[in-house]
Amino acid sequence: MSRLNAKSRAPILTILLTSLLLAAPATRAQEEAKTLPFSDNAGNTASVQRGARDFMAYCSGCHSLKYLRYNRIGQDLGISDDQLKQNLIFSGVKVGEPIVTALPAKPAEDWFGRVPPDLSLETKARSPEWVYSYLMGFYLDSTRPFGVNNLFLPNVAMPAVLGELQGWQVKEDEGKGEHEGLPLKLVQPGSLSPEQYQAFVSDLTNFMVYAAEPTAKERTSTGWNVLFYLIFLLLPLTYFLKKEFWRDVH
Ligand code: HEC
Repeated sequence: MSRLNAKSRAPILTILLTSLLLAAPATRAQEEAKTLPFSDNAGNTASVQRGARDFMAYCSGCHSLKYLRYNRIGQDLGISDDQLKQNLIFSGVKVGEPIVTALPAKPAEDWFGRVPPDLSLETKARSPEWVYSYLMGFYLDSTRPFGVNNLFLPNVAMPAVLGELQGWQVKEDEGKGEHEGLPLKLVQPGSLSPEQYQAFVSDLTNFMVYAAEPTAKERTSTGWNVLFYLIFLLLPLTYFLKKEFWRDVH
């Protein structure tokens, strides 16, 4: 039996790595569509709660949110530990654990060709509009391994996991699309109406915006407290000080 020694392996690795590096950008070179308008609202607790439930049901099988713990969601969204265990935690882990997918990286890479990325900071890395548009942008494409492609991530490696809900779309000529300007046409309706699906995807995106910065609410309320303090405490003080200084002059 001949085993490759470290020396003879090195060139093979180099070639592999180089071809990976060269191949990756090439497959993404196609032009991406213009994103849909979307104004995120992570302050809408009901929407973020629904988004959390749907994320756990439809996305956490492949994607982690490793910077977010289940009980942090509980605290922020008013969900008790028992409710968390019953409705959001499918992997049986404790409520204090971060949200880590049960899908191991190796088989994921074999199945999809790419490890599903952690989505903790996705709405910051891309944008809420991009994420919303991406979830609206799957269309049938028989040349792709899962039979679908995406307007916003050409040659996408993710299956259209929401296809049953959204229905199936085909790509149309530019400008003819139904969905607020996306060049896509629904050819087979899903279990949700287009409006219901838009609401569903808005909830998911709002949840992901929340997940990217769970402290946003505290941060803004601290900001308001500071402003309040400055205006209502310091302003009168400054006024009286000024009066005091100028008293002798007048
Ligand atoms: C069956 C596994 C699987 C499921 C379930 C899944 N995804 Fe993905 N997802 C992937 C893979 C694989 C990629 C990498 C796609 C690529 O780079 O081509 C991906 C990519 C993404 C991206 C783009 C990441 C980036 O910036 O490149 C977003 C956003 C995303 N998924 C959101 C979701 C959401 C939201 C759900 C739930 C509705 C979900 N995914 C469910 C496998 C999955």
